[in-house]
Amino acid sequence: MKLTVVGGGSTYTPELVDGFARLTDSLPVSELVLVDPDADRLELVGGLARRIFAKQGHPGRVITTSDLDAGIDGADAVLLQLRVGGQAARNEDETWPLECGCVGQETTGAGGLAKALRTVPVVLDIAARVRRTNPDAWIIDFTNPVGIVTRALLSQGHKAVGLCNVAIGFQRRFAAMLGVTPDQVSLDHVGLNHLTWERAVRVNGEDMLPKLFAEHMSELTDDLYLSAEVLLQLGVVPSYYLRYYYAHDEVVQELLTKPSRAAEVAALEKQLLEMYADPMLDEKPALLEQRGGAYYSEAAVALASSLLNNIGDVQVVNALNNGTLPFLPDDAVIEVPATIGAEGPTPEPIAPLEPLYAGLVAHVTAYEDLALEAAIKGGSERVFEALLAHPLVGQISIARELTDRLLAHNKAFLPWA
Ligand code: G6P
Ligand code: MN
Repeated sequence: MKLTVVGGGSTYTPELVDGFARLTDSLPVSELVLVDPDADRLELVGGLARRIFAKQGHPGRVITTSDLDAGIDGADAVLLQLRVGGQAARNEDETWPLECGCVGQETTGAGGLAKALRTVPVVLDIAARVRRTNPDAWIIDFTNPVGIVTRALLSQGHKAVGLCNVAIGFQRRFAAMLGVTPDQVSLDHVGLNHLTWERAVRVNGEDMLPKLFAEHMSELTDDLYLSAEVLLQLGVVPSYYLRYYYAHDEVVQELLTKPSRAAEVAALEKQLLEMYADPMLDEKPALLEQRGGAYYSEAAVALASSLLNNIGDVQVVNALNNGTLPFLPDDAVIEVPATIGAEGPTPEPIAPLEPLYAGLVAHVTAYEDLALEAAIKGGSERVFEALLAHPLVGQISIARELTDRLLAHNKAFLPWA
């Protein structure tokens, strides 16, 4: 089996390689190709990847290349984990929205729109090349903003599934709290990427959410930065990203007083790359845990295995709505549990979404639709309309100010700006 990782020079890659090395039974990778335009990073990350495989006795070859077409040729699955503009562009996304009193975040709000505009054309070009060389290959998208990028891929008929680690993170965390194994825990996880709620945490069919609230409330509130009152009032566990909505103004104040996450990550990456250069290092370093992507390798291995081996189990993914949430268009992309087989994901039927969540989901879906239009067709008025439609913006004067800043900061990436 040949797997190709586009953005393989990411400091995250050893996490993924560790997953492939540990989980060989479900995914026998004979060739792992890391594709990246940055040859220096490829050498460091590729070297460590080979040492991780060797240490675990993994028979697969690790190949590094900056030639995308060569890298994807013959791949059974292509994982996308690229970041157009790197941490420098992320730093801007996290900074200029604050000047307008809006949250600066890489996937939520105006910063997320900037990232979508930079990313969608690049990803669509890669997908078109995958389709030309290898029409049966699955595209697994980790590239943020995952909801919009997956919708872009599906809107062009690509064989794509979007993936995020939020659900698997909750599953692992709840399992540890409950003293059960992760596969015993199934989540009623619903919403859009980075806009989800856990409505139930089932073990053997029984909802353990009341038990988690009763016995592990302080751990939950520490993780989510939401109060116990809020969790009890809602009766669900919102993802960390809901804080940008439920406590927007408070978060803006906080962000104004500390370095951006991009700056923190850039410093971490520098340290990580120095470690990767050490020829004695043959496992993923603990420092990598300071990145947000915990368990993403497990999610990737599980998803690729079920797609390629037609397993038919249930995993949380980003897939076409197709009537699952009846108040959304069929071509919206939602993040829900789905049965995964060779034909791709089929969302499980879910209980009707309560108005408290449905309103926000519909609102953000409309924004994502307009964001995708802007990303594909370009134009400052499309950018403005997407921002005006975003629940965290909504005011004409602020949408204008954000539009001007977004375009000024992203000229190098947007040929039409
Ligand atoms: C979580 C999210 C990812 C995001 C990451 C950021 O894992 O699900 O979509 O990319 O956090 O982590 P970072 O270490 O880059 O801040
Ligand atoms: Mn994510």
